[in-house]
Amino acid sequence: MCGIVGYVGRSQAAPILLDGLGKLEYRGYDSAGVAVYDGGAKKLSVHKAKGRLQVLSDMLDAGAAVPGTVGVGHTRWATHGAPSDVNSHPQVSRSGKIAVVHNGIIENYAELKAFLQGEGVSFVSETDTEVVAQLVEYFVDTGGVGLLEAVGRCLRRIEGAYALGIISADEPDRIIAVRKDSPLILGYGQDGMFLASDVTAIIRYTREVTYMDDGEAAVLTRDGIQCYNTFMQPIEKEIAHVDWEIGAAEKGGYEHFMFKEIMEQPEALRHAIFPRIREGEVYFENFSLTDDYIRGLKKIYIVACGSAYHAGVVGKYNLERLLRLPVEVSLASEFRYMDPIVDGGTLVVVISQSGETLDSMAALREARRLGAKVLSIVNVVGSSIARESDEVLYTWAGPEIAVATTKGYSTQLAVLVLLGLYMGRVLGTVSGRERAEAAAELLALPEKLEKVLEQRDGIQYLASQYFNHNSIFFIGRNVDYALGLEGSLKLKEISYIHSEAYASGELKHGTISLIEEGTLVIALGTYEKLFDKAMSNVVEVKSRGADVLALTTGDRRADMEKIANGVMTIPSTHPLLLPSLGVAPLQLFAYYVALMRGCDIDKPRNLAKSVTVE
Ligand code: G6P
Repeated sequence: MCGIVGYVGRSQAAPILLDGLGKLEYRGYDSAGVAVYDGGAKKLSVHKAKGRLQVLSDMLDAGAAVPGTVGVGHTRWATHGAPSDVNSHPQVSRSGKIAVVHNGIIENYAELKAFLQGEGVSFVSETDTEVVAQLVEYFVDTGGVGLLEAVGRCLRRIEGAYALGIISADEPDRIIAVRKDSPLILGYGQDGMFLASDVTAIIRYTREVTYMDDGEAAVLTRDGIQCYNTFMQPIEKEIAHVDWEIGAAEKGGYEHFMFKEIMEQPEALRHAIFPRIREGEVYFENFSLTDDYIRGLKKIYIVACGSAYHAGVVGKYNLERLLRLPVEVSLASEFRYMDPIVDGGTLVVVISQSGETLDSMAALREARRLGAKVLSIVNVVGSSIARESDEVLYTWAGPEIAVATTKGYSTQLAVLVLLGLYMGRVLGTVSGRERAEAAAELLALPEKLEKVLEQRDGIQYLASQYFNHNSIFFIGRNVDYALGLEGSLKLKEISYIHSEAYASGELKHGTISLIEEGTLVIALGTYEKLFDKAMSNVVEVKSRGADVLALTTGDRRADMEKIANGVMTIPSTHPLLLPSLGVAPLQLFAYYVALMRGCDIDKPRNLAKSVTVE
């Protein structure tokens, strides 16, 4: 969702802001803008445009047309007020002296707007953000205070979630940054300081960053950054070094980030798995959940959104099987309001690629309030969810840019299996032999996945046969059902084809009435134990006229080919890892279908990569 970039330094700001916003495009947006202090004219110059960032960039000659070395930029994902030039950020105060960029939602904006209108302040946009710009100016004017003090007063009045970047023509040497429940990082460059919603925006300029915590503020000047706590007392913050390759967040010759990230999965799995297996046993460095704590657990609760939730559904099957403990899995948006049965005997596992999803964050806080420990499985190092958890297992997949997650999901699956084997040893529910077998298969997983990805031409051919269908069903049982949920989501989110996933056994309770001549059913039958049942379901839908595309293991290809119209295969592996291989053909199928339908694959309509509002 909304992206923020800020720069104060010795170089021209606008090209840096536009470049940074380009790196944040993946978050999802509908308009963009920048505000830069023009030292010659001694005022802020503000430029905004609805639509793609390219429109703004063309307008400003890639930033060259805007003089000044201090500024803030923004990509907006509309919440309050439709996408339009006037609703785009930066939002400015009525005098034009204060500009604000904002990610999040000011919940009490209507009340504050009414107050300010009563004081004679008029508004031009429908946004909640304009209230912040006007309120800060109101405090400067009526209180005779400086920008930082006015922002502090404003923070005491606003409620909701926000990351804010604020500049003022009256104090043109600085940017003020504040955060609560929306991500914001600070960067220390050679010739200036940065702020951004995430590291990708500024990695070209610096690898030294500080992760702001909730309630904190910062003043950035060209020579340094001073951070403040909630009480506006100066504090020292740790500076972290980011060790990503710069190219990791760029396309590197691929047509789409999604395809690049699909192909990167074997490498991502190596990062997630290899350092954590030693002599056939799973090992987590500095893991703070003690064996006694694990032995005292009564239940595990997995909480997540989107694909991370689907990883959690696979996790439920796998963890229950390994640990013989009840595992519940819940959508974070439901969990937070369902009065969940959670206490000190429950381990809550929050899964999130970005580590910033607001619903997952709220669920995490609710779980901790109820006395549970939270273990998070997160990709983005230093993200909010990672920092608020009792323990984190990073997926180490590297930056994921395409909105539709691929390597994020597959590394989550792997980490869940690692967790199951680790806890299974502590609980004594998984024998040494079983652990060694599973560990060996985990180590073989990246190579097997490479083999699956080599079949992409065949999958592209299958996609060419079916890309014009309007409705596609995924069916499967057990982990194949869980896999179907993700396959169906991948397809619908990037190709806009209506698609649903069903547990095969549920078909006859309603869905089968939707199967008619030519309906495409993607039948998942990788789980050997239930293969015969998968075959029966294929026969069932075929006899109602469906076309069936099946996914199974190489060993079962010949059986499936007898009845299905097309077959995709994966190598045999440990049952715990079937979805880790099975997801790749489904990702590729979704990708090629979307490509053939001419969709905007990396930025599907209405979707955002990191959902930081409720
Ligand atoms: C968005 C993304 C999905 C992702 C979900 C959860 O909807 O488009 O790809 O699965 O958020 O995100 P998270 O970062 O918490 O895994």
